[in-house]
Amino acid sequence: MFPSCIPRLRPSAVLVLLALTGLSSCADGGNWKTLKPQANAARELVSLDGIWNFALPTSIDLEEDKAWTKNIPPSLQIPVPASYNDIFADQNIRDTSKRRNILRFDAVTHEARVFINDRDVAGHIGGYTPFEVDVTDIVAPGEQFRLTVAVNNILTSQTIPPGNVEVDETGKRRQLYNHDFFNYAGIARSVSFYSVGEVYVDDITVTTEVKDQGKGATINFSATTNKDPKSSRPRVTLFDEEGNEVASASTLQGSLELSSVHLWQPGVAYLYRLRVELLSAKGKDTLLDSYEVSVGVRSVEVRGNEFLINGSPVYLTGFGKHEDSPVRGKGYDPAYMIHDFQLMKWIGANSFRTSHYPYAEEVMDYADRHGIVVIDEVPAVGLNIGLSAGTSTDEPTLTFSEKTINNQTREVHAQTIRELIHRDKNHASVVLWSLTNEPASNEEGARAYFEPLVELARELDPTRPMTFANVMYATPEADRIMDLFDVMCLNRYYGWYVNTGDLASAEIGLEQELNEWQDKYGKPIIMSEYGADTLAGTHTVIAVPWSEEYQTQLLQMSHRVFDRIESVVGEHVWNFAGFQTASKSIYRVDGNKKGVFTRDRKPKAAAHALRTRWLEEGVRKGQGNVTAAA
Ligand SMILES: *[C@@H]1O[C@H](CO)[C@@H](O)[C@H](O)[C@H]1NC(C)=O
Ligand SMILES: *[C@@H]1O[C@H](CO)[C@@H](O)[C@H](O)[C@H]1NC(C)=O
Ligand SMILES: *[C@@H]1O[C@H](CO)[C@@H](O)[C@H](O)[C@H]1NC(C)=O
Repeated sequence: MFPSCIPRLRPSAVLVLLALTGLSSCADGGNWKTLKPQANAARELVSLDGIWNFALPTSIDLEEDKAWTKNIPPSLQIPVPASYNDIFADQNIRDTSKRRNILRFDAVTHEARVFINDRDVAGHIGGYTPFEVDVTDIVAPGEQFRLTVAVNNILTSQTIPPGNVEVDETGKRRQLYNHDFFNYAGIARSVSFYSVGEVYVDDITVTTEVKDQGKGATINFSATTNKDPKSSRPRVTLFDEEGNEVASASTLQGSLELSSVHLWQPGVAYLYRLRVELLSAKGKDTLLDSYEVSVGVRSVEVRGNEFLINGSPVYLTGFGKHEDSPVRGKGYDPAYMIHDFQLMKWIGANSFRTSHYPYAEEVMDYADRHGIVVIDEVPAVGLNIGLSAGTSTDEPTLTFSEKTINNQTREVHAQTIRELIHRDKNHASVVLWSLTNEPASNEEGARAYFEPLVELARELDPTRPMTFANVMYATPEADRIMDLFDVMCLNRYYGWYVNTGDLASAEIGLEQELNEWQDKYGKPIIMSEYGADTLAGTHTVIAVPWSEEYQTQLLQMSHRVFDRIESVVGEHVWNFAGFQTASKSIYRVDGNKKGVFTRDRKPKAAAHALRTRWLEEGVRKGQGNVTAAA
C-alpha cells in the first residue's frame, strides 16, 4: 500500500531492451551502494518487471547503432527477469522535485548501459550485483519516457568472470571462457523504481556480538544519510519477531544492549528488525525516511580446526548450487527458489555455497529467515586458463601475467568484492566470504594477485572469515595462497576426473591428500565440491561412471574419508541440480549432470542416500537443527 499523499511516478509505456555484444565505451556511473528497495510510509516502490521489447544491435559498436534513440519494435519481446538466451529459438540472439526517483536494477549480466530517451544516463560493470540511477532530474513525474538497457555479455581477460573472444578466418566471433557453466546474460533480476524524500538513509551496517554464553548480546549499528546528518533527527528501534520494541536509540551510530537474546542458529532462525527513521530536525516528528533491516544475532569464529557459530562447532551439509533453470537461464524465479530450499530441507542440507557468483537478494533473505548457512562467493570463477571443463589441458598457459589476468583484472575483481560485501554484509546467514573459485593458485603470480584482495576483504568486513575454493591440481605442495585464508574449501574429484571408475584407489588418494592439508595448516576443511556426472535412469549392477549407483557409491566413499578426518567441518556435494554449460565441451551432454537432482529437480538415487546420511543417521557433531530448517 502506498501512502496516498505520494503521487505515483508513471514509468512509460515503452520499455525496451537492447541486447548482446560489444559495448565499446566504459560503462559506469551507476551507483552500486544501493539498499534493496522497500515500500513503507516514507518510500514508494514500483516494479518494472514484465515484458520488455528486445533487439540485437546491428553493429557491435553501439554508438553506430544508437538503438536507444528509436522505439524498439515489439517484434521480439523478453520477460524481465530472465536470461534472454533460452527464450528464443534463434541462435543469434511523485510528486515534485522534492522527492528523488531512483531506478534500480537488481542485476544485469554482465554489463549494462542505461538510456532514458536519447540520453546515456549510467552504466554498471558486473553481472550479479545491483546498481541504481537517480533519474529525478531526467524525467518528470507522470511523464512518459523511453527506457533502453544495453546488455553486454562479452568476457575478456579484464572481466570477472574472465574469458576471451576468438575471431576466426570468416570473421565470426566466438566467446570462450574457462568456467563450466553457460554464459547466460540479460536482465536476470528485477527492475524497479523507488522514491525517497529529500533526506534518506543510504546505508546501514549492523554487526552483532554474543555475550554471557549466549544469554545477552550487543548490536552495533551505523547508518549514513545522503545529506548532512544535522538535517534530520534519527530514531533507531529494534523489534523482536512478535513486533515488540526491545531497544532504541536516537543516534545514527551506536550500540544496543540486550540482556536476554534469541540467537540466530543454523536451522532455528530468529530475526529482529532494526528500523532506522529520519525525522524532521525541528518541530513536529515528520517522518522523512524509514528503512528496516533484519538482524540475526549470531557469532562466527574459526578456532584451530573448528568452525564455530555462537561458540559451538558446526558441521555443514549441503551443496554448491547454481542459479539455473530451463528457459529462464539465470533469471530469478521465486518458484524455483522456494522449491530448491524445500528440497534442501527434505534432504537434510543446512547450508550451500553461492557458486559461482552472488545470488539474488531474495535468496539471501530466505536463507536468513529459515536459518540456512551460506558461503557467499564473488563471480571470480575461471581464473584458470589451463583448466577446461574440470580437466587440465596439455599445454600450460600462464593465468596471471600482463597479457592475461593482470592488475586491471584484479581491480575489477576488487570491485566485485566491494559490491558483494556491501550488499550482503547484514545477512546473518552469510558466515564465510569466498573470494574466488578454482583459481590457478599453483602459479607463481597467484600470491601477488590475491594477497591485496584478501586484505581488502578483511578491511571491508573484519567480522567474517575468508575462504576460496581450491582446485584439484593446486595440491598442498603446489598451492601458494592457502595460508592467506581462514577456512580451506577444497574441490576434489577423486573417483571422477582422477581414479575414474576406481573408488578403492580414490579413497586412498582422497584420504592421503586431506591428511596433508590437515597436517600442513591445521585449519577447518570444507569439502566444497565432490561428485560425479550421472545420467538419471542409468542403472548398473557393478557401479560404473554415469550410473546412479556410481554417484551414490562415490559420495559414500567420500563420506567415509571425511568421517576419518578431524578437520573436515563440512561437505557440499557438487551439485545440487543439473545445470547448463557451454556448448564447446564434449564432456557435457546438454549440461553438467553432477546434480543430485536433475535440472528439473527430480531426485537421483544419490539424493535418497544423502538424505539417509544427513537426516536419519545425523552426521557428526553440530549439523544444526536441520529438521527445523526451511
Ligand atoms: C561494537 O562496538 C564496540 C564499541 O565500538 C566495539 O568494541 C565492538 O568490537 C563492536 N562489535 C562488533 C561485533 O562490531
Ligand atoms: C601490478 O601490481 C603490483 C602491486 O600490486 C605491482 O608491483 C606491479 O608492478 C603491477 N604490475 C604492473 C604491470 O603494473
Ligand atoms: C529442532 O527443531 C524442532 C522444531 O523447531 C524442535 O521440535 C526440535 O526439538 C529441535 N531439535 C533439537 C535437537 O534442537
